Amino acid sequence: MCGIVGYTGNRPCQEILLAGLERLEYRGYDSAGISLIANGGVDSVRAVGSPSKQLRAAMNGEPSIAVSGIGHTRWATHGRVTEENCHPHDDNSGRVHVVMNGIVENWTDLKQRLQARGATFSSQTDTEVVAHLIASFYDGDLVEAVRLAYNELRGHYAFVAMHADEPETLVGARHECPLVTGVGDGESFIASAIPAFLGDTRRIQLVEDGEIVAVTPEGARFLDSSGAAVEREVREVDWDVETAEKGGYDTFMLKEIHEQADAVAETVADRLAHGTVELGDIGIADDHLSGLRRVVIVACGTSYHAGLIGRYAIESWSRIPVEMDVASEFRYRDPVIDERDLVIGITQSGETADTLAAMRLARKKGAKVLAITNIMGSQATRDSDGVLFTRAGLEIGVAATKTFVAQVAAMYLFALKLAAVRDTLEREHFERLVSELRGLSHKVGELVESVDVPVRAMAKHWREAGFFLYLGRHAGLAVALEGALKLKEIAYVPTDAYAAGEMKHGPIALLDERTPVVCVATDSPVLDKVLSNISETRARGAHVLAVATEGNTEVAEHAEEVVYVPSTDWMFQPLLAVIPLQLLAYYIASEKGLNVDQPRNLAKTVTVE
Ligand code: M6R
Repeated sequence: MCGIVGYTGNRPCQEILLAGLERLEYRGYDSAGISLIANGGVDSVRAVGSPSKQLRAAMNGEPSIAVSGIGHTRWATHGRVTEENCHPHDDNSGRVHVVMNGIVENWTDLKQRLQARGATFSSQTDTEVVAHLIASFYDGDLVEAVRLAYNELRGHYAFVAMHADEPETLVGARHECPLVTGVGDGESFIASAIPAFLGDTRRIQLVEDGEIVAVTPEGARFLDSSGAAVEREVREVDWDVETAEKGGYDTFMLKEIHEQADAVAETVADRLAHGTVELGDIGIADDHLSGLRRVVIVACGTSYHAGLIGRYAIESWSRIPVEMDVASEFRYRDPVIDERDLVIGITQSGETADTLAAMRLARKKGAKVLAITNIMGSQATRDSDGVLFTRAGLEIGVAATKTFVAQVAAMYLFALKLAAVRDTLEREHFERLVSELRGLSHKVGELVESVDVPVRAMAKHWREAGFFLYLGRHAGLAVALEGALKLKEIAYVPTDAYAAGEMKHGPIALLDERTPVVCVATDSPVLDKVLSNISETRARGAHVLAVATEGNTEVAEHAEEVVYVPSTDWMFQPLLAVIPLQLLAYYIASEKGLNVDQPRNLAKTVTVE
């Protein structure tokens, strides 16, 4: 959560920082601000609201000539959403300014200590404490002051500080929250994420955990927390600036829904050569995989739903028992885990605090941990023994779509890999699955186009419904859960998602003639059971909107409205079935005039527990 950006170089940077913040808006948009060093002092502008609207509006004066500065877009953790709590924060003298992402856990102790020495505070944030702490150590060397302050902080955070006396230097520090620098010509960038400066450079250096980085127009200098120099290679990323723009679509979410065929194709393409699964070096040996006692999947939100689908594939194809847990529960339940287990942490951002904590706990208990993530160099890649990357490209819409289908594809790949090393599938079955998975991205592409019009009409009709029930069985349950989450998070419509067979044990009491019931009724060995459940809902007068497999005429006899997805192996149907449900949520939210890319109270990456 929260996005930070800094620039030091040879160009006026007000607009550079603002544009960078706009590209980081997906990380939080409660408030925003920038501080610029000019004429021996620091000027700040801060506003409640987003960088692109309220902050831009607040900058209506003469553009600044400053060539270095820092900026922030906030998702509030400490302190309400008010102007006093907007970043950047300073030390009251106005010389030290800081922007931060994350949480300092010992901030109240530090605050009391600083207050006892005369510091006065004007916000309720932990970040202001960091600014005062740096100021208390400052003796003409910002890098050293940051290093000393860093060694006193507990929690998980990344921050960037600047001092009016050292106008060309920005100093960043990282502890379990992301920070990356951008290398330009006579100019340098620092940010929470690469898109912030993607329009200016694609050459980056990753700041590692426990490091401090001093950024000047000439480049970045890395130190560890003892002050020793650290070498860091410059890498080139292959994302382009269009990735961070809407490319003709009304919203990022719609663009990303339309990019799902590519996300699946990129994720599976070269890993399914020659009729087998080649995952490359995922950091966990085949011998280890073949001897596993159990797989445990931990994740949050949409990533958890991808894990649920993966669970069915792993159990069915490789016959390894799979346990699932949401990461925030797993980490506090003292799970029984040891070196015979493999724990898979699924997190598109690679930054979700609960998922990372669950992964670390599993490693501590001796299990090997595999991360499935979309972000190179993210924390998840460091807190794991191996990594399987999804290749969905950058996702900006807060509601996950293309990263979800890429995660599901990655889970299918991994399940096939387990089946291969354990030799649990008949050759012919295995090859058929590989071939279907290879062809899945084409079906995704066709589906996104074909389903748009009917789902939009459905959304128009049901836009005023006050409640939706989602039902599914087997892996279709994960699709129901994901469809319901999408509708909640972007359209603010109350939903419940239930195992269809469980409905009569409670939720059926909610049904009446006004209730739309969304049923995942794609082909599977449990389709007959789903059809019986559909009949039960209709007997209570509810209106059934079903997702079915092309060519299946039976579902239409049971449901009022049906949207069809292409036929494939039944285990792959969930990856297709979710697409109409993403679009249903999208168009209901659009009908309501809501901001789908930035739903209220949410942020794209949840770096707090
Ligand atoms: O980055 P992660 O995959 O770890 O994120 C997990 C959840 O926060 C995320 O999936 C969230 O539920 C999305 N807003 C869903 O659209």
